[in-house]
Parts: sequence; structure tokens; C-alpha cells
Amino acid sequence: MDLVTLKVPAKITLFGEHTVVYGTPAIASTIPIHITIAGRMADDDFIKLEIKQGLQFKINTITVYKDEIKGEIDQENAKRFTGYAVTAINLCEKFLGISEKSRGYIITIDSPLPVGVGLGTSAAISVGITTLCLTLNNYIKMDELENYRQEIAKLAWSVEKLVQGSASPMDTYTISLGGLRYIIPSIPISYPVDLSYELPIIIGYTHREGTTAELIRRVRRVRELHEEIFSEILRTVSLVVDKARKALLDNDLETLGTLMNINHGMLQALGIVDMKHAMLAHILKVAGALGVKTSGAGGGGAFIALAPSKTIQEKLISIAEALGATIVSKSLCKDGVRFVH
Ligand code: PMV
Repeated sequence: MDLVTLKVPAKITLFGEHTVVYGTPAIASTIPIHITIAGRMADDDFIKLEIKQGLQFKINTITVYKDEIKGEIDQENAKRFTGYAVTAINLCEKFLGISEKSRGYIITIDSPLPVGVGLGTSAAISVGITTLCLTLNNYIKMDELENYRQEIAKLAWSVEKLVQGSASPMDTYTISLGGLRYIIPSIPISYPVDLSYELPIIIGYTHREGTTAELIRRVRRVRELHEEIFSEILRTVSLVVDKARKALLDNDLETLGTLMNINHGMLQALGIVDMKHAMLAHILKVAGALGVKTSGAGGGGAFIALAPSKTIQEKLISIAEALGATIVSKSLCKDGVRFVH
């Protein structure tokens, strides 16, 4: 098979991150910012990864043979991308019954986002490389991608669990299936939340301290020390998520904003909201935001703010940028992983 090229969207969690790891529902959406992954089979049995990332377009070329990485990886981000990519290939080959690694791949990953800012980049790599590997090995038929989305999501979720130790199915199901989704992790299943209007939101990120795995461990510690209180937080967030789904469908922005603020408060109680986000949330609310919350694993990283109107949306963007945030989108998107023909 010739070169296969994929566009994989990043994602944002609107409600229910962290608690989703313990089985409560969440709402997440893909956003219109994409990682491009292109790959083909190689003549030898090496995995060659070329990773371009960030706006500075630094390129790392990495060669992997039977899990052993050859050559220096000079950027932490590239190292993390490599972990997800190689695990995805190994898992797909196992799934396909390829027992000994006898196949080589030449893959380019081009990401406008650094890994680990809370926008689902690791899940995007897991979903993208899983789709690529299953396609290059003739399992996925390119014109029938719709039939494979659940299977891709499930396999990519296993990649996340292997690399991180612990992960919910939220990110991989959202990125594989696409759009705004209500996720029930215990099954797992995800339902589309179809909006007939555009949410006036801003999506951005600040510097993040700590990896997703570390932040998940931090929350687990709170659970170990305060089991009863933790159960109450789970119950509250469950309620928030279900009310948020209704508010989204009803175009009730006022309620939605309040629910975002409550969810942010719960994340703060779990200890994953950093000072910069606490400050951003406060200032953006004073400037007119209906709701502001940390999104994703926290420790800084991604956040979302809901504006009551387009004018306030622009004002919030200027303020957030002045406070050092990078704004990546003003809207959600509908697509999941897709081929570029
Ligand atoms: O920050 P991200 O994009 O890695 O999102 C992590 C979301 C968590 O709920 C904290 C973990 C998970 O697996 O759902």
C-alpha cells in the first residue's frame, strides 16, 4: 500500500475530567486543530518516525527496532510522542496476529501542539497511529472508516492505559468518533450531543507542570485519603455532567457557565488547578465570562471559557492572551480521525 495520510483532531473536555477515570460520565469534543500523520510500509523492519512539532518546527527523526530506540531524542515532547506511537504499532500488530515484529514503517507526525497540554495530543497520536497501522496492514478499508471507529477507539484506549498506567476511554472515543460527545466510561459508550448553534467559547492553554499520569496519581491520593468525600465529589460531578448535557441541548448558556464554574471548583478541590488557572478564571469571570474551567488533566494546561456573546468572546481572548495564554480555537468541530485523499 502507498502512502496513507490522516488528519487527527485535538480535543477539549467540557465536563467531567478526572472523575471520568472513576466511572462517572463526561462531555468532550474534538476541536478544529489537527495533527497530520502520514506513513507507509518500509522495506526493512525498523520504525522510522519523523516528528515535527510546535510552531518552531523542530524535527526529530527516531528509529525504533523491537522497542529499542536508536539515536538521541533531543526533545521531551518527541520522546513522549514516540512512546505512544511505538506502543500503538506493537498493540495493533498483536491485534492483527503478527507475532514477531517483521514489518517496518516510515511515519511522519506533524503537530501544531506540544504533547501534554490537556488537548488530547497523546490520544490523537494513539488514535492516529492505530488507524494508520490497521490501514497499512489492510485491516481497515479506507472507504469504510465509519465501520471501524469503535474498534479504533478501543484499541487506542488500550495504548493510553499501557503508556499512562491509567486512562479513561474519553479522549480516544472522542477523537476517533468526533464532535461533541457524552461519554459513559463504564460501558464504554459515547453519544453525540448535536447542537444547532455555535457555542461562544474560547479554548486555550498555559504552561503545564506534570504529566497526565502524575496528575491522575495526585487525584488518586486524594481518593485514598478521603474516600467518603471523594465519593461525594463523584456524585456531584455526575449531576453536573447530566445537567450540562441538558443545558447544551437547550442553548442555556447561563446554566452552562454556572456548571462549568462548579466543575472547576471540584477540580480545584481535587488539587489539579494551578495558580495561573485560578487567576485566569477569576479575571475572565470579572470580564464577563459566564463560566471558566481547567480542561483535561490540569496542573495548568488547557482551559475553556464561555462567553455570553461574540463581542465578549473577543474581549476574553485579548485578556487571556495578555495574561500569557495561547488561544487555539473559538469553536468545537464535528470530525473525528479522517483520511486525506
Ligand atoms: O490532559 P489530557 O488531554 O491528557 O486529558 C486527561 C483527562 C483525564 O480525565 C485526567 C484522564 C483520562 O484518561 O480521562
